[in-house]
Amino acid sequence: MKDFLWWRDGVIYQIYPRSFADSNGDGLGDLAGIISRLDYLADLGIDAIWLSPFYPTPDKDFGYDISDYVEVDPRFGSLADFDRLVAEAHRRGLRIILDLVLNHTSDQHAWFQESRSSRDDPKRDWFIWRDRPNNWQASFGGKAWEYDPSTGQYYLHLFTREQPDVNWRNPEVRKAQLDVFRFWMERGVDGFRLDVFNAYFKHPDLPDNPPKFGVRGFDRQNHIYDIDQPEMMPFLNEMRLLLDSYPERYAVGETYFATPQKTVSYCGPDKLHAAFSFDFTFMEMVFPVFPWNPGWVIKQIIKREVTFNAAGIWPTTVMSNHDLPRAASRYGRGENDSQSFLAMALLLTLRGTPFIYYGEEIGMRDIQLRRSEILDPPGKKYWPLYKGRDGCRSPMQWNDSPLAGFSTAKPWLPVHPNYIRRNVATQQGDPDSLFNFTRKLLALRKEIPALRGGDFIPLETARGVLAFLRQLDGQSVLVALNFGRRTMKFLLPSGSWRMLLISAQGQPGVLSPYEIQILILEG
Ligand code: GLC
Repeated sequence: MKDFLWWRDGVIYQIYPRSFADSNGDGLGDLAGIISRLDYLADLGIDAIWLSPFYPTPDKDFGYDISDYVEVDPRFGSLADFDRLVAEAHRRGLRIILDLVLNHTSDQHAWFQESRSSRDDPKRDWFIWRDRPNNWQASFGGKAWEYDPSTGQYYLHLFTREQPDVNWRNPEVRKAQLDVFRFWMERGVDGFRLDVFNAYFKHPDLPDNPPKFGVRGFDRQNHIYDIDQPEMMPFLNEMRLLLDSYPERYAVGETYFATPQKTVSYCGPDKLHAAFSFDFTFMEMVFPVFPWNPGWVIKQIIKREVTFNAAGIWPTTVMSNHDLPRAASRYGRGENDSQSFLAMALLLTLRGTPFIYYGEEIGMRDIQLRRSEILDPPGKKYWPLYKGRDGCRSPMQWNDSPLAGFSTAKPWLPVHPNYIRRNVATQQGDPDSLFNFTRKLLALRKEIPALRGGDFIPLETARGVLAFLRQLDGQSVLVALNFGRRTMKFLLPSGSWRMLLISAQGQPGVLSPYEIQILILEG
């Protein structure tokens, strides 16, 4: 494909390693398991894999508390396995993106162990120590400061108390963190997902955050001093220079408290390549539900289209990830997949790089856990108001054999009981499955440049229908989605339109319930 830039034109697939495939029967997914499924991913038609953390971790935040940035946790494999994974992925044309969690370490990381050992330790200033706490709150609940009796000071942690925040104002820290990027790029890694990157720098004086209306302590503050400090920009410039000294490397940021405006401000030729803006995944704060109807969806699309276009920044599209209830659970009812087809169609046809979350291609649902089964720290803290993120992290459902073909031992989280019918093998054999729809859509994206790079033009439709054009160099593709359970007509713009993909049996311009049509203008 001419001018195909993998991170812009390709599709990225997120793997949560402990839940994808277990090769050694310990109930935990691992790198060798991922290698054994690379053919599956290549056949599906994705272009890159984002691996959630596989580094050594005491699992206080299930891998997002890292005790060594440049190692593999023995439960997941070894650096040799990792090298094999990169080589095997590259052999199939798949890129590898790592998750770098550099805002905080684990309290078991050697840097923190040294830092906490004495007030005079050379690494004392690598973390944020103070005699008196300010009013900041941890996003997983409670105060953001933990008292350390051995040295008589408090350290800052924006997440759990076992995740001390690194002091990014210290130049040695910045150098050490850039070395982490270098280490993995030297091993052939193609890109990075930067965990809560816009929290790296805190205001140097650590002033109290001003109050605002909210439910939890954390939400009752305006986060103006603990995130989004101006020093982030020069660091991003430095990081980008390093990335650009290797060919075609990529960085996508997880923007904390993302809005389209904020997100674009962190992207550009001398900053991040991209940053998530989570347009379709946030909960409306007033009514804590996930909205999902054409009017709301189009509003979100327009908001981001306008902002990203004006700034010349390439967007990303996310429907699910390891922090959210899966789209299929947010929008779907029971085992009915009609909403999952709509969400997948949007994910793969909007302007922007799509991120597929493992299992999304078969419409995996969140598991339901009893209180005693919950592992995720915020879930333990806020149950039953908030049940945490375990639900979306259950084992991948490969087939209908016991434990869904994920493992031979009891998995770290239960397999969803629907695996007997909802699994990869079954859906591969069903031409009308979400899996086969996703695969066809991925192939179509490869074939039709307008679906990747085309401008986005919304069309006027009846209520309940969402339709838009993607246009590039004279190529016009029309995408129409019926969100409702009534058959709907929509007016095809003039010209001769050929059907490229249809999810049901309707005819061009007539959408049966929940139907999706993708057409191309001929001639
Ligand atoms: C990010 C991750 C989340 C993690 C948190 C703290 O939001 O996506 O899983 O718990 O950062 O590292």
